[in-house]
Amino acid sequence: MKNQLEQLKDNFLTAVKDVTDPEKLEALRVEYLGRKGKLAGVMKQLPDLAADMRKEAGILANEVKLGIEEAFVQAQKSVKDLEGASRREADWLDVTAPGEAPVLGSLHLVTEAMEDFADIFGQLGFVRVRHPEVDWDWYAFESLNLPKTHPARDEWETFFIADGDEVQTGELGKVVLTPHTSNGQVREMERGRMPIRMLNMNRNYRRQSDVSHSPMFHQFEGLVVDENVTVAQLKGTVDYFVKQYFGEDRKTRLRPYHFRFTEPSFELDITCNQCEGKGVLPSGVSCRLCKQGWLELGGAGMVHPNVLKAGGLDPEKYTGFAFGWGVERTMMMKAGLNIADIRLLYRNDLRFLKQF
Ligand code: PHE
Repeated sequence: MKNQLEQLKDNFLTAVKDVTDPEKLEALRVEYLGRKGKLAGVMKQLPDLAADMRKEAGILANEVKLGIEEAFVQAQKSVKDLEGASRREADWLDVTAPGEAPVLGSLHLVTEAMEDFADIFGQLGFVRVRHPEVDWDWYAFESLNLPKTHPARDEWETFFIADGDEVQTGELGKVVLTPHTSNGQVREMERGRMPIRMLNMNRNYRRQSDVSHSPMFHQFEGLVVDENVTVAQLKGTVDYFVKQYFGEDRKTRLRPYHFRFTEPSFELDITCNQCEGKGVLPSGVSCRLCKQGWLELGGAGMVHPNVLKAGGLDPEKYTGFAFGWGVERTMMMKAGLNIADIRLLYRNDLRFLKQF
């Protein structure tokens, strides 16, 4: 029995050396020290021994038990240490290592342009608003002095909102994707806050898609309504904008034109930066960018009395001017950007967008 006890202890000490995880260690403890364990098995022989032998064996058995327990506690400690060390290694963070710079985003160049417009017109007291981009025919056409039968309405190539096969129609006519920001004019008048100095910027839609037309694009619409508003103020306002946005040396001109919702109506032209408004390059060749020194920016005019009436205002008391220009067009004219296909602006291709 003495031998058995010594053997038991040696076996345990050997086995415990290889144990690295707490569960296996516990299993080993149960195997040796458990109630039905190996030590208990050997101890069962005790009663069969002679009295003097029994005492000696009892002492030895106790020593073996204590030895095994001590080795167990030791092993428990080193298993724990080992665990801690590997966790520390996994969690280790080198706070002195150089960081990985996050990729910084930037505003889309069209958004940037709109912020520039809002800043410049803001200096003149224009308040940026956003009227609906999906609106009733009434606001997009009818209230703007464009009756249904008027041929000018064909020019807008409008998208209609359909529910299944049915085009949605309500009291104010069909529902359309706004083809221009002029729908904001009567809506702004209806708010009933005079005087009006509005800058309505929004997305617009027309059924046109080619290298110079995106079916979705943006316009910014200025509207001023007050008593005694004049063409001179319109001219002063567009002058201010053009000089701020394009540069002090640029000149403007109002060229007679026709819109149903303004009278008189104009196209606003600005001098060409390529030939400096001369229409001819220093080499003597005529400028290919412009028409005789002028580039067209967009429409403008004095608000038509019928539009004021549609907005609930008395045309005898109030007058106003309006202008509505393409954001993309204006932005590209400034940058001298010659984007081969305007639709590239909206393809979300970073290789393209990152160039600006
Ligand atoms: N809405 C017109 C267009 O889209 C532009 C315009 C706006 C003209 C305001 C006159 C006054 O072409």
